[in-house]
Amino acid sequence: MRKITIAIDGYSSTGKSTVAKQLADYLGYVYVDSGAMYRAVALYAMENGIISDTHFDKAKLIETLPQIQLYFEKKNDWEKAHIFLNNRDVENEIRNLEVSGFVSPIAAIPEVRAKLVAQQQEIGLKKGVVMDGRDIGTVVFPEAELKIFMNASAFQRAQRRYKELVEKGENIQFEAVLKNLEERDHIDSTRKDSPLKKAENAIEINNSEMNIEDQFHMVLQLAKDRI
Ligand code: C5P
Repeated sequence: MRKITIAIDGYSSTGKSTVAKQLADYLGYVYVDSGAMYRAVALYAMENGIISDTHFDKAKLIETLPQIQLYFEKKNDWEKAHIFLNNRDVENEIRNLEVSGFVSPIAAIPEVRAKLVAQQQEIGLKKGVVMDGRDIGTVVFPEAELKIFMNASAFQRAQRRYKELVEKGENIQFEAVLKNLEERDHIDSTRKDSPLKKAENAIEINNSEMNIEDQFHMVLQLAKDRI
């Protein structure tokens, strides 16, 4: 069976990563959560005094980019690979609402994107990859055999994300989660470099009323048709 490249893009918290991971596991493909890479750069910027509520030193971030090393490592076969920032496992830290608040302005910087896109393309060189993000079908893998664009209502998405964060023990308000999603979607879709948009040949899935199993079977069938 030939190996293909599967790009899954869409708005924040549309469940892209859940479907992408299930699909990759089923097909024996590599799953790459490209958002984790932007989140890890945001965490680095927060920890190094580059970004805060009151300032954002873009020039310093660009200058220090070569010092940011990112890689993914799997602990076992069933779990998602964790992201490492300069040899430190930051998989959990990057999911909090503080990082979510800083990640989109950081992801809008062309130099940051160039660095991460190059790394993503290298990971996908051998195909057999499922990658989720915002620009995978448009910029990272424009030749991907299967492109999916996922969407759902902002309210539904915020409810899912809120539940996830509460289950992890975060003390947060639903309104703050909804506001963060809307702000990120706005910045992500209006930035100059690689804005979030549906690739022309992407298949759009609105999963507001779909469960995870139905989504998985739908995407799996689309993948099988192309393998
Ligand atoms: O996928 P996730 O919600 O974790 O992504 C976090 C942020 O990273 C997005 O809101 C977006 O700003 C940025 N991102 C991006 N391009 C990607 C993946 C994520 O700009 N391919």
